[in-house]
Amino acid sequence: MSAMPHLDQELFSAKEIRARINALAEDIARDYGTDEILAISILKGSFVFTADLIRALAGHQVHPLVDFMTLSSYGSRSTSSGTVTLHHELSLPVDGHRVLLIDDILDTGLTLQTACQLLTRQGARDVRTCVLLDKPSRRVAPITANYTGFQIENVFVVGYGLDYNNRYRHLPGLVSMKFEDSSGAP
Ligand code: XMP
Repeated sequence: MSAMPHLDQELFSAKEIRARINALAEDIARDYGTDEILAISILKGSFVFTADLIRALAGHQVHPLVDFMTLSSYGSRSTSSGTVTLHHELSLPVDGHRVLLIDDILDTGLTLQTACQLLTRQGARDVRTCVLLDKPSRRVAPITANYTGFQIENVFVVGYGLDYNNRYRHLPGLVSMKFEDSSGAP
């Protein structure tokens, strides 16, 4: 009988994530100065990261406006041919705002690229990107995040808001998963 996908290794502990987010908040606070930030969190995977990042920013006297958008790419997560679709519109107007786009993982880059184009078309004054994790080896779209938590190999990661079939979002750390075909992806 074949083994089920299962949790493998903790890549980053809750303590390491907290320290990294504080460093990101410091960089963001320094770069934006007194300019107002419109933080836009891409659901669902980035909800925990966003919650901690905006509170870390508050520790640097930065209090962004916060909104959410839902995008999804079709096709399996292990292929790069996804078409990205917007499912949930923003509730705040973006025109004239300095947008900080927050996502859990920069993988092929198609999601973040589509979101950046969309916000630019809607009149954002400037769009910067902040991701918790970056898998550069999987990149298809030519995009680099302005702020990155951690770079990782091509492994599938869950925990800290990230899921596999809607499980594991509650885990305090970031944990890799093992799949029976050892491709590193579901
Ligand atoms: P792209 O490829 O457009 O996709 O950069 C980014 C989105 O793909 C999902 N994704 C993952 N989700 N563990 C997850 O839980 C992973 O290792 C992983 N890799 C990609 C995620 O939704 C991300 O926003």
